[in-house]
Amino acid sequence: MDKNKQRILTGIQSTGTPHLGNILGAIIPAINMSKKKNHESYLFIADLHSITQIKSPEILKQNTYSTAAAWLAFGLDYTKSVFYKQSDIPQVTELAWYLSCYFPYSRLTLAHSFKDKQDRLKDVNSGLFNYPMLMAADILLYDANLVPVGKDQLQHLEMTRNVANRFHNVNGETFIIPEAELNSENMTIPGIDGQKMSKSKNNIIDIFLDEKKLKKQIQSIKTDSTSIDDPKDWKKCNLFNLYKLVASNDQIKNLKANYEKGGYGYGHAKQEFFELILEKYSKERQEFDHYLNNLDVLDKILKEGANRASETAGMVLDRVRKKLGYN
Ligand code: ADP
Ligand code: TRP
Repeated sequence: MDKNKQRILTGIQSTGTPHLGNILGAIIPAINMSKKKNHESYLFIADLHSITQIKSPEILKQNTYSTAAAWLAFGLDYTKSVFYKQSDIPQVTELAWYLSCYFPYSRLTLAHSFKDKQDRLKDVNSGLFNYPMLMAADILLYDANLVPVGKDQLQHLEMTRNVANRFHNVNGETFIIPEAELNSENMTIPGIDGQKMSKSKNNIIDIFLDEKKLKKQIQSIKTDSTSIDDPKDWKKCNLFNLYKLVASNDQIKNLKANYEKGGYGYGHAKQEFFELILEKYSKERQEFDHYLNNLDVLDKILKEGANRASETAGMVLDRVRKKLGYN
């Protein structure tokens, strides 16, 4: 690795088509970060983690494709970043096993990914229990320096650092100890009900939908019952908050004025928001469709990424196997 460069790495869960919250909160910031000159970036689709939940091969595949298409549509440069599927690099499961043997069972029982489901133990498979070790392997296998993640993932990062140090205590320096880089700290995108936008809350805006379905989603944004004639309070309006995340300053000023003058209904504002999304993301929507209509292109991009990722993975795993006495 170039000594002057920081290697950033992040994994993207492939649990459906990325929504506006994922795009503004994670995809765009990660792509911007990958463009910095002193950064070298590894971005991968965490499809091995996905099978802790998803058991349908069709859905698994579909999710991988739509996640990859969304990242590419938003400008991820796959020739500069290493963009790959976790499942294309089987060495990661080998490293996850080694790490599991260096991490206490009792600490894994404290992981949120598992603890949150402790009251439904019958739904917890041992893959889910061991999830943090696979995530540690994802990171340590590529000598990553910086890992951009949401707040909920900080504990997993701590476990990654911890298991690397435990390994070092026995076998000497082997891994790069990574740092977490907290993303979307101040940015929580609200959903159509005003709560945090999330797949699991059924409140998302999927900007890649066809026009008819997208319009329906936007029409279902919750608003209060102020009548068309009356002035409206934009400060408290969820629709306005969503609009402002996408619109230009002039457009925001205009909408504010319309709210304040009265005679302007939420229906009008929704129509404007709908048209704004179509206009602002017109290129991304086209590219997304293009990729999904040309899966062979996506396959090729991900395979090329896997070839590059596997070179690094092979080198690091070699180092680890030597330390363990296998090579
Ligand atoms: P979801 O909550 O829909 O399942 P994930 O947990 O898979 O989304 O999140 C993937 C990434 O998108 C994470 O980095 C997370 O921080 C970011 N993200 C998800 N929802 C939002 C949101 N409403 N606002 C900002 N960022 C979000
Ligand atoms: N667990 C992460 C999430 O749910 C996804 C992920 C898997 C990841 N492996 C990773 C993130 C490695 C960063 C680094 O969002």
